[in-house]
Amino acid sequence: MSDNPALQHEEVVVRRGRRTGVALVVAVHSRVLGPAIGGCRMRRYADWRDGVTDALRLSTAMTYKCAVAGLPFGGGKSVIALPEDAEPSTVSRRAVLEDMGELIASFDGSYLTGPDVGTGPDDMLLIRSITPHVFCLPEAHGGTGSSSGPTAAGVLAALRAGARHVFGTGTLSGRVAVVSGLGAVGSLLARGLREAGARVIASDVDAAKRRFAADHDLDWVDPEDALGVPADVVVPAAVGGVLGPGAVRRLAAPLVVGPANNQLTDDSVAGLLAARGTVWIPDFVASAGGVVYTLARELDGLDHDAALARVETIGDTVAGLLDAARAAGTTPLREATALADRRLARP
Ligand code: PHE
Repeated sequence: MSDNPALQHEEVVVRRGRRTGVALVVAVHSRVLGPAIGGCRMRRYADWRDGVTDALRLSTAMTYKCAVAGLPFGGGKSVIALPEDAEPSTVSRRAVLEDMGELIASFDGSYLTGPDVGTGPDDMLLIRSITPHVFCLPEAHGGTGSSSGPTAAGVLAALRAGARHVFGTGTLSGRVAVVSGLGAVGSLLARGLREAGARVIASDVDAAKRRFAADHDLDWVDPEDALGVPADVVVPAAVGGVLGPGAVRRLAAPLVVGPANNQLTDDSVAGLLAARGTVWIPDFVASAGGVVYTLARELDGLDHDAALARVETIGDTVAGLLDAARAAGTTPLREATALADRRLARP
């Protein structure tokens, strides 16, 4: 994301959990602005090295997410790389989270974790039994629980700012939105968009989600066709790497904004999107709501409404970046990266 050679990963630790033998990764990209923060992702990988690659990319994105959001934190991420062929019962969830807790503990507070794809507040509680450096415990245990709601709220704020920029109005009533991925955040977004009066066309690799779609008055499109559906906005809400040159050619929406991390196959795709007249709002800007909200509540002691008001400022940030890109003839990605780099240069 940056040409700055000083911004390479500071620390990457790969360890096989002593309880489970599962490959665990903690990647710290930068602590220039403060201790590294980033969620713990748990998923299956064909090869554990793919988990390392994921951790490297995701931790870099967290540095930029925190910097653009104005948070005094650096970027990190942890990955529990479950083997593709493991029987769910052979690797106990508790044991693998304790293994990860031990690895996180060794960072002594210079890497702080929270939930991410594949983990939730109950898992944070298990990690918490080993190390205190954990956010988003269940509410019954004094935490603020899942950060999916605030993440979705931040994406909606970004989406409204994007709509204002592209259509001249942020009103979502009557708009057509494609939501690709009905996971924790995607399903909340789909419902939020529907409640705002948009027509929502949803998709997920898990065909069982069709039931959820039907129950919430969402139309359905198969995942391989989702990006090409003519719509006002496409919302990538599944895993990363969905926007490459081929996908960009298929896109039939003037606005793309969503919570999936690392949406572009590489940064040059931002130029391809802009050349087609598609406004892409960088994922690390739009998806900051979870971490912004959690830190406002758990660190700064704000109440729910005040913390949510902070999340809403993501809309102002997006408006500023889109204006700057339009004025300078650059891309929103370029402007967001430049903003982060300025903050990282003068912590
Ligand atoms: N998964 C969150 C993200 O990608 C990270 C997070 C960390 C959320 C700590 C809350 C608290 O931004």
